[in-house]
Amino acid sequence: MKKISFLLVALSALLFAGVETDTCVKCHPAIVEEFGDSMHKKSSVDEDKVHKAVWDKHPARESGDYKCANCHTPNIKKETATKTDQQGFSCSSCHTIKDVELHAQENKNINTTEEKTFFSAEAGRESEKVKYKYETSMLGLNKTSVGSPYHSIDYTNEKFYTGAVCMGCHSHKQNAEKFTICETDEKGAKDKKQNCITCHMPKVEGSATTIRMSEKHAFHGFAGARHKPEMLSQYVALGFEKTTNGFNVVVENKAPHNLMTHPLRVVQLRVNLIRDGKTTALETQTFVKVLGRDNAPSMPWTANAVLEDTMIKSEEKRVINYGDALLAKDTIEVQLGFYVVNPKALKGLNLDGDKELEKFTILKDKYFTVE
Ligand code: HEC
Ligand code: HEC
Ligand code: HEC
Ligand code: HEC
Ligand code: HEC
Repeated sequence: MKKISFLLVALSALLFAGVETDTCVKCHPAIVEEFGDSMHKKSSVDEDKVHKAVWDKHPARESGDYKCANCHTPNIKKETATKTDQQGFSCSSCHTIKDVELHAQENKNINTTEEKTFFSAEAGRESEKVKYKYETSMLGLNKTSVGSPYHSIDYTNEKFYTGAVCMGCHSHKQNAEKFTICETDEKGAKDKKQNCITCHMPKVEGSATTIRMSEKHAFHGFAGARHKPEMLSQYVALGFEKTTNGFNVVVENKAPHNLMTHPLRVVQLRVNLIRDGKTTALETQTFVKVLGRDNAPSMPWTANAVLEDTMIKSEEKRVINYGDALLAKDTIEVQLGFYVVNPKALKGLNLDGDKELEKFTILKDKYFTVE
């Protein structure tokens, strides 16, 4: 009897907890911790300085019509998302997505109205819907539990096996003039073997729950440009080949979408020639997608044209030719990296002087020695 009432107290404490993750952390501590450092958790005006900088310039800000909420703070459609008693983006922002409605301007997530039911994916359980059962035999000697004591789990939602669940927010966005300002190719959300989830949420050490122990769990920090890019470097390959009058560097993007998808990003290839212990920097290559209007770069909400698009495309092998003649024993250092915010846009966004954003992040670095 004592044990049961303890369980009831514990459960009611869970039910009356404050923000959502305060509840989940009791049984999913590793996942909640990772999520806390992710750009999903930090996607609000309060927690993402880049998002705030762009919103500060947005014409809709005057009227307080925070249109960004659908994707940046889906739980509460307000600008100040984290200073309230709710979380703008939390676990249920994804785990209650039942369907994704396709629209030209931006897609829309349809969330389940079933209380405390979460969708998830697990190989081998694709047809299961698990309602929690806690069975105690008459004498209380045999107890068996199935599923989670806090919620039901629906494993039957296909979208959780292909990454299609990500496409309500990540697919595309048009501005008021119906001009597409960003998009992520759909082909990355079709395959069960490799998709948004397998690359951005790889299996890492540690149990998914403290109740049913597992060796690994899906990484909930969501590796990307802002957080843990090094976890994605395996999907970029750098190659080198000698030509008759110089050499080629080959950059292969194994991602099923543009190497960078956000129009603020700038990718660069930096190449150094190391000869007799002396390092000489060769010409830097820049890969961008610049949006604009009337032949001048512009903010996304006024853009109606792509002014320049040298971004490395999905699954593309880009060959860059260098006319520098090489000698035996020369070493070529190749670095592929990026800026989160185009250095040319920092000032206009009042982000100049920000050390973190002025930093060039190296995604992949490789040395080649000439025979
Ligand atoms: C009292 C403990 C407990 C609490 C609180 C709890 N969970 Fe769970 N959860 C579990 C257990 C146990 C499982 C594993 C069930 C199984 O494998 O049969 C689970 C599984 C899950 C799964 C599916 C995992 C899979 O197998 O793919 C999701 C998603 C999930 N929980 C989300 C949440 C979220 C979100 C919260 C907070 C709102 C939460 N849980 C709170 C115990 C809990
Ligand atoms: C349809 C969903 C959606 C809407 C609506 C939306 N965004 Fe985003 N936003 C995203 C996604 C997804 C990303 C992730 C980056 C990517 O796709 O490259 C993002 C990233 C960003 C970034 C880059 C942040 C960083 O980490 O550097 C900025 C800035 C941004 N959004 C601003 C806005 C503003 C301002 C609004 C509202 C006027 C808005 N967004 C509305 C989906 C959306
Ligand atoms: C084969 C692995 C792979 C798959 C599949 C994949 N990605 Fe990526 N993704 C990458 C790589 C590599 C990068 C670039 C490195 C980085 O951003 O740190 C990236 C970057 C991103 C970024 C950050 C881009 C930016 O401009 O900030 C987002 C957002 C993203 N992917 C979303 C998705 C979504 C959504 C899907 C599914 C439709 C998907 N990815 C499928 C490998 C993958
Ligand atoms: C951006 C969407 C998204 C958010 C936010 C999110 N999850 Fe998940 N989660 C997923 C997807 C997709 C999977 C399935 C991964 C897989 O295939 O193993 C998953 C898997 C899980 C699992 C099973 C993990 C495993 O490897 O067995 C648990 C438990 C879980 N999530 C709990 C949570 C909790 C708790 C939170 C909030 C702290 C959360 N999730 C936030 C998308 C999300
Ligand atoms: C409810 C909307 C929503 C859903 C669903 C969603 N995302 Fe995001 N995602 C965003 C927004 C908004 C951002 C940009 C946050 C920022 O930088 O301010 C983002 C950013 C990212 C990033 C970039 C992180 C970084 O460090 O730069 C990755 C990677 C990503 N999401 C992967 C996924 C994957 C994989 C899924 C599906 C399992 C998913 N997202 C589902 C809204 C969403």
